[in-house]
This record gives sequence, C-alpha cells and structure tokens, in this order.
Amino acid sequence: MERTFLMLKPDAVQRGLIGEIISWFEKKGFQLVAMKFLQLTPEMAAEHYAEHGGKPFYPGLVAFITAGPVVAMCWEGQDVITVAREMMGATNPAKALPGTIRGTYAVDTGRNVIHGSDSPAAAERELAIYFRPEDFFNWDRSLAPWFTE
Ligand code: RTP
Ligand code: MG
Repeated sequence: MERTFLMLKPDAVQRGLIGEIISWFEKKGFQLVAMKFLQLTPEMAAEHYAEHGGKPFYPGLVAFITAGPVVAMCWEGQDVITVAREMMGATNPAKALPGTIRGTYAVDTGRNVIHGSDSPAAAERELAIYFRPEDFFNWDRSLAPWFTE
C-alpha cells in the first residue's frame, strides 16, 4: 500500500470546500492515515516548494500558501500517488478536465485548491515536513475487502 501527501490549500479552506474535497478521496476508496490543520510559516513554504525557488511565480506562491490555514493529510491506497494526481487534474485549472477536482472547483493556476505529491520520493519528503511518525494511524477499515481484491 502506497502513501501520499495531499494538502487543501488556503483557497479551499476559505471557500468552505474542506469536507467536499475530502469526500472525493473517501468515496474513491482511499484511507486517511494522518491529518493536521495548520498555517504554513514562510520557512515551511520554502521547504515544501524548494524545487520552485527562483521561478517567477515563486514569491506569489509562497505568499498564497502562507496566507491562511491549510489541511495537511496523508492518504493511503493502491497507486494513491498517481491516482490522486489524476483526480486533482492539471496544474492550470483552465486545462483541468471536467470530472477532476481542479476542473470542478478552480479557474486560476495560482488558486488551484489542492496539492498532491508527484512521486514516491516527493511523498516521503513532504510527509516528513508535516508529520511525525506518531501522527500516522494504521487502522483497519471493515470495508477494505470491498474496495480492493
Ligand atoms: P502542487 O505542487 O501545488 O501540487 O501543484 P503541481 O504539482 O500541479 O504544480 P507545480 O509545477 O509543482 O507548481 C506548484 C504550484 O505553483 C503554482 N504555479 N504557478 N504561474 C505559474 O506558471 C505557476 N506554475 C505553478 C501553482 O499553484 C502550482 O500548484
Ligand atoms: Mg508540484
């Protein structure tokens, strides 16, 4: 079973979309194993988005991601890293297909409501920024056999 880091960005929180977006992943069949409500410091934002340091959109990205609270989560499931990215849709919500989260809820690249790790290495790195080992819950879901063979 794979784990990924998903984060509802400040725009999703401000717009009252927390419950609705979390529902997408619950209904899909993934399992929540850690969750935290917090506001990123500029230092955390710099660590999270280190790969984008120096790019033209970086200052705006850090200002946005630190502008209010976010919902940081770890989700577990079969191919969850790739499938969650597919569910999120393209970075630019104008290009995100209908039926994706960004395609449904967003119009602007700088306000695209959700973050998701793009590889196993990124998931491991990002989860370590937000969570300690004791924050992860290994719980049995009675419906598990009805989601995966
Ligand atoms: P994320 O990391 O937030 O999940 O988004 P992503 O993988 O789909 O996109 P990424 O290339 O990692 O970019 C991170 C975030 O930076 C903002 N961005 N703005 N104006 C631009 O050209 C531009 N490009 C990226 C977006 O908010 C994007 O989610
Ligand atoms: Mg990214």
